Amino acid sequence: MDTRVTIAGVELKNPVMTASGTFGSGAEYGEMVDLNRLGAVVTKGVANVPWPGNPTPRIAEVYGGMLNAIGLQNPGIDVFVERDIPFLKQYDTKIIVNVCGKTTEDYVEVVERLGDTAADLLEINISCPNVKEGGIAFGQDPKAVEAITREVKRHAKQPVIMKLSPNVTDITVMAKAAEAGGADALSLINTLTGMKIDIHRRTFALANKTGGFSGPAVKPVAVRMVYQAANAVRLPIIGMGGISTAEDAIEFLLAGATAVSVGTANFFNPYATTEIVDGIEAYMERYGVEDVKELIGAVK
Ligand SMILES: Cc1cc2nc3c(=O)[nH]c(=O)nc-3n(C[C@H](O)[C@H](O)[C@H](O)COP(=O)(O)O)c2cc1C
Repeated sequence: MDTRVTIAGVELKNPVMTASGTFGSGAEYGEMVDLNRLGAVVTKGVANVPWPGNPTPRIAEVYGGMLNAIGLQNPGIDVFVERDIPFLKQYDTKIIVNVCGKTTEDYVEVVERLGDTAADLLEINISCPNVKEGGIAFGQDPKAVEAITREVKRHAKQPVIMKLSPNVTDITVMAKAAEAGGADALSLINTLTGMKIDIHRRTFALANKTGGFSGPAVKPVAVRMVYQAANAVRLPIIGMGGISTAEDAIEFLLAGATAVSVGTANFFNPYATTEIVDGIEAYMERYGVEDVKELIGAVK
């Protein structure tokens, strides 16, 4: 049975990876999960300088998922390169570094710093607030998506995955903009903007008022967007949004994803990723699927 898939020339032993921000840089989960069994580990977003993140409370539970407004807290690229990359290098898995920034220059600085590290692929989170455009996320304007993709590609040594925001009217417009800018792959979806009100305190559940909605409840939206994007561009797609079981992951593959990321599920089941690897193999066995690539985009 062949479970290998290839993203922009990088071969993964299986299509299962972690979703950025839900698995630290692997060390937090490494005692419970054998990282060697994963196709790739996607790290938490890293910026050119440390970001303190948002005020608390910044997490809230909702039906079928959660809201978060962490605010991309991270230690900055210096600490990341010294501490997190060497940790991940000990394992036989691919390293995908998620990058965030407030200006195009921020992204470029991080991407350049990663050029001579062991990172295999870069995942560019364009849901970060673009300070030069009044705080609107890069990922909500097709011109900005194309421009930042082109600029990152100009400076990146590794292949570039553009991570799309679902908070747009038509995901195919953003997918095509990233493709036009030279992206090597796409990942989607990031979180959907949500809000929760605490009726007892009569205020917002999150200090930031709004937060990113993720978890099992978002899956149908994510499957729909992955399907639309897969049919709009020729790039490989990493699908995510609500995946907690192998059955969920297989839905994304059938919709057109080449690989999948597991996010919020890690919080309620730290073994979710490896259980999904096992479950995909069991499904292949059950239905006589020789090569996992047969499943990719099989539902038209
Ligand atoms: C607590 C938390 C932190 C996150 N941090 C990041 C991040 O740093 N960069 C990023 O691109 N996405 C981040 N995400 C989004 C996830 O990677 C993923 O796209 C989203 O949660 C949908 O998948 P899920 O429903 O499986 O969680 C974060 C999500 C959560 C819940």
